[in-house]
Amino acid sequence: MKIINVVGARPNFMKMAPLIEALAPFADRVQTQLIHTGQHYDERLSSLLFQQLELPEPDLHLEVGSGSHAVQTARIMVAFEEYCLRERPDLVLVVGDVNSTLACSLVAAKLLIPLAHVEAGLRSWDRTMPEEINRIVTDALADLLFTTCREADENLVGEGIPRERIFFVGNVMIDSLRRFLPKAKPPAVLNRLPDPQKFGLITLHRPSNVDNPLILGPLLEVFERVSRKLPLVFAVHPRTAERMRAMGRVEIESLDEGGVRLGESNLWLTPPLGYLEFLFLMDRAAIIFSDSGGIQEEAIVLGTPCLTLRENTERPITLEGGSNVLVGRDPQAVLRAFETVCADGRPSPRVPEKWEGGSSVEIASILVDWLDRQPPNASLR
Ligand code: UD1
Repeated sequence: MKIINVVGARPNFMKMAPLIEALAPFADRVQTQLIHTGQHYDERLSSLLFQQLELPEPDLHLEVGSGSHAVQTARIMVAFEEYCLRERPDLVLVVGDVNSTLACSLVAAKLLIPLAHVEAGLRSWDRTMPEEINRIVTDALADLLFTTCREADENLVGEGIPRERIFFVGNVMIDSLRRFLPKAKPPAVLNRLPDPQKFGLITLHRPSNVDNPLILGPLLEVFERVSRKLPLVFAVHPRTAERMRAMGRVEIESLDEGGVRLGESNLWLTPPLGYLEFLFLMDRAAIIFSDSGGIQEEAIVLGTPCLTLRENTERPITLEGGSNVLVGRDPQAVLRAFETVCADGRPSPRVPEKWEGGSSVEIASILVDWLDRQPPNASLR
């Protein structure tokens, strides 16, 4: 039996790494192949993470690169279809909600190849987010849906997915976090701070936050203000870097891991960091400002207060207990929430049901068991 595992963009890599490891003991029954679509191609968004997460070299790199959503999705589909026709896998496994997830799901479904989706059922109920479209379509097509929380199961059932296809297994990204946290290491930028033990962390890359200078500009001003009280490290995504460059922020031209200061502030910019360096920062930061999906989950498990600069979240489980707060992107609201966190201090780490590190092992055994029960040559239906 053959499973094709698909990755494309940064958040896929930490989800796929433990799955590949968990499938390895079944190697006598299940052959796995890893496909990288090339949606992310920068060294710092891709190969560095492959190396740190101990992912095997991909069996095939589709090298699709950047483009509009249609162009990127279409390029992946054309190349992935060709590969699937040649390889005839028994199952395609996709993770998360990026364009690569959607593109490969469409190909598998149309070739009648069984499809498994890890991290199914999350919903922001906001269709202006490209990821929401990717989630809805992927879940509608998947034969096996693995969820991180019970609410996701109910979302899927509400969309007409039969319960017997849904498996609540917990969170594979937290499997990676638990495995690699002991190896976390400090990035060089910490040496530039007045006190390397006292800092906050920023990530920002959603089009809704960074594409409009009237939104990004005031957010940067807020961060500069906050940095006078608490030095901040901002790991800048290439999309955000491009927008900041267009706004005339010259500091962005010379980013390296040692960090460059934004203006006169104590806001230190770096390029995207490795997984191990980023884990180190997330774990020790006094606060995280972010618009990421996954960081909300990692933050609550680490017990690091997180302010999510979005109007909604597909991960409402992270809001329970108050250590992740949706603050939107109004600069005054962000400042107020920062003051509240300063007053309240660090929350206790919180581990949602089944986020204990065994999710990938559970998924692997469900997958192999399911494949064993399929009639021979089922994928040639
Ligand atoms: C993608 C995912 C998003 C995820 C994010 C993590 C979709 C729709 N979005 O967003 O869910 O949170 O990854 O980073 O799939 N670029 C580079 N180098 C690269 C890749 C991208 O410079 O290796 C730049 C290009 O200018 C590109 C832009 O970033 O146009 C956006 O890249 P893209 O993959 O389309 O989306 P992300 O914003 O990275």
